[in-house]
Amino acid sequence: MKSRVFILLFVLLGLIAIVFAQEDDSSDDDTINDNMPDSIDTEILPTTPTDDDTSTPSESDSTATIPSSTSSETPLASSQPDVPSTAVNKTVNPLVCTALNKLYTSLNGNNWIVRTGWDSTDMNTCCSWYNVHCNSIGQVLKVVLAHNNLVGQLPDSFDQLPDLQTIDMSYNNISGPIPTSIGSLPRLKSINFDVNLLSGSLPSGLSAPVNLTTIHFKNNSFSGTIPDSWASMRSIENIYLSNNNLTGPFPNVITQFVTVKSLYLDNNAFNGFLPSNLGDASALIQLNLKDNHLLGNLPSSIGNITGLQSLIVSHQMLNGTIPDELFNILGLQVLDLSNNRFTGPISPKLGQLVNVQKLNLGHNGLTGPIPNEIDQLTKLQSLNLNYNALNGQFPSILAPVALGYCYMTPNQFQSCPGPEIVNNPESLAFQCSVDCIVRTKTKGDASKLASSMSALVLVIMATLITM
Ligand SMILES: *[C@@H]1O[C@H](CO)[C@@H](O)[C@H](O)[C@H]1NC(C)=O
Ligand SMILES: *[C@@H]1O[C@H](CO)[C@@H](O)[C@H](O)[C@H]1NC(C)=O
Ligand SMILES: *[C@@H]1O[C@H](CO)[C@@H](O)[C@H](O)[C@H]1NC(C)=O
Ligand SMILES: *[C@@H]1O[C@H](CO)[C@@H](O)[C@H](O)[C@H]1NC(C)=O
Ligand SMILES: *[C@@H]1O[C@H](CO)[C@@H](O)[C@H](O)[C@H]1NC(C)=O
Ligand SMILES: *[C@@H]1O[C@H](CO)[C@@H](O)[C@H](O)[C@H]1NC(C)=O
Ligand SMILES: *[C@@H]1O[C@H](CO)[C@@H](O)[C@H](O)[C@H]1NC(C)=O
Repeated sequence: MKSRVFILLFVLLGLIAIVFAQEDDSSDDDTINDNMPDSIDTEILPTTPTDDDTSTPSESDSTATIPSSTSSETPLASSQPDVPSTAVNKTVNPLVCTALNKLYTSLNGNNWIVRTGWDSTDMNTCCSWYNVHCNSIGQVLKVVLAHNNLVGQLPDSFDQLPDLQTIDMSYNNISGPIPTSIGSLPRLKSINFDVNLLSGSLPSGLSAPVNLTTIHFKNNSFSGTIPDSWASMRSIENIYLSNNNLTGPFPNVITQFVTVKSLYLDNNAFNGFLPSNLGDASALIQLNLKDNHLLGNLPSSIGNITGLQSLIVSHQMLNGTIPDELFNILGLQVLDLSNNRFTGPISPKLGQLVNVQKLNLGHNGLTGPIPNEIDQLTKLQSLNLNYNALNGQFPSILAPVALGYCYMTPNQFQSCPGPEIVNNPESLAFQCSVDCIVRTKTKGDASKLASSMSALVLVIMATLITM
């Protein structure tokens, strides 16, 4: 009889150990965390101003507004004519058609997916070639050859296309440098070479066209830094340089980008400190510096960019405290400071960011409690405070209704809300699977726990029956 009691105790202890082991297993999955934020970044900014590139009424440049979905239109979808169909006779300056023909031969035209007209030898009628858009007097305004299997190097003949306003050659295999003649397009408004194999320096000549609003150069192999000459661009609003090989100290020229609304420098190799007057780029709405090698503080002047909606500076070595001024940007929808070395407390002013939908402060060295003011962030969809040293009492609040992702552990919370809150599926503590020192049941483990418990009951019953 006595030995049976020992066996029973032994079994009980073993099962309790299993239960606790499973609770610790509520590990934070980085892949999940990283997938989610990126998709929000592009989805949730419906108020991003659209390219007001309307001076040519018939020309709609749909490629210039939303970062990543831009050039996904297929060549066939964008083949609409620019001009009223009454303007049928568009005899073009043969030098212009010859320059286009040079593009065709240099970029392996025989293998283009669509090349209607481009193989013509008539150098007066290129307005009828596939996706060459002209006005009623035969000036070539727009050339769209995205997703069309262009391979090779650009010829240095852009100076022969004096009326060109829009170039879209995104999603091809164009390699080598951008020729200097690109600076000889006085009417250029939008240039798109996203997702190609271009290398060399960013073209300094792009400072010449006074109406240039949009530069898409993401996913190429550009090296060096942003040319100082770009500071003199007068109309520039959107600059996409993500996923290149840009290096050197953080380009201070950015503080002179006073008209720029969207600036994407993520996934390059910029290093050093952010300029203390970063906030001089005060028209910014979206700033993405993710994945560079930046050091030092996030400058407090950031608070001067009052229209900022998305700030992503994750994955560097930024340190110091999160500047209070940041919480004056009341329209922020996305704030991602994750994977840095920020320390100190989270200011109660966090509660001012009532529009924030994605908040990621994970993987830093933040301390102190989660401010109760977090309950004012009613639009939160995604919340990461995981991998910090936050402590104190976890807030006893209900989760924002739209909250879909929440990662809070590991941290060092000393106490959780009472069981009536922790076990309420609508509470923040429940939805974030908070792991307090006082162990409480968490969402992710609920089913595992339940099955462990029923197994335990079965074992006890079986043991009792055999006794
Ligand atoms: C277009 O212009 C050319 C030369 O100016 C002329 O020969 C031709 O007849 C015109 N075509 C039409 C359809 O008007
Ligand atoms: C374009 O480049 C990619 C990757 O560099 C390669 O896989 C693909 O075959 C190339 N396509 C053409 C048509 O050259
Ligand atoms: C720039 O845009 C303005 C306003 O649309 C227009 O009047 C001007 O002619 C354009 N300049 C050039 C060089 O195209
Ligand atoms: C652009 O580059 C990033 C990073 O290398 C990569 O993850 C992404 O798939 C690329 N996008 C395209 C459309 O190739
Ligand atoms: C980026 O630059 C470094 C050094 O200049 C070079 O070694 C590397 O091959 C480059 N990478 C790409 C993708 O161009
Ligand atoms: C932040 O990093 C910089 C550069 O590494 C260093 O000089 C500075 O002392 C650090 N400051 C803090 C508060 O850790
Ligand atoms: C913010 O801008 C104001 C004036 O526009 C300036 O006086 C102030 O120094 C700026 N703040 C920071 C922190 O740069």
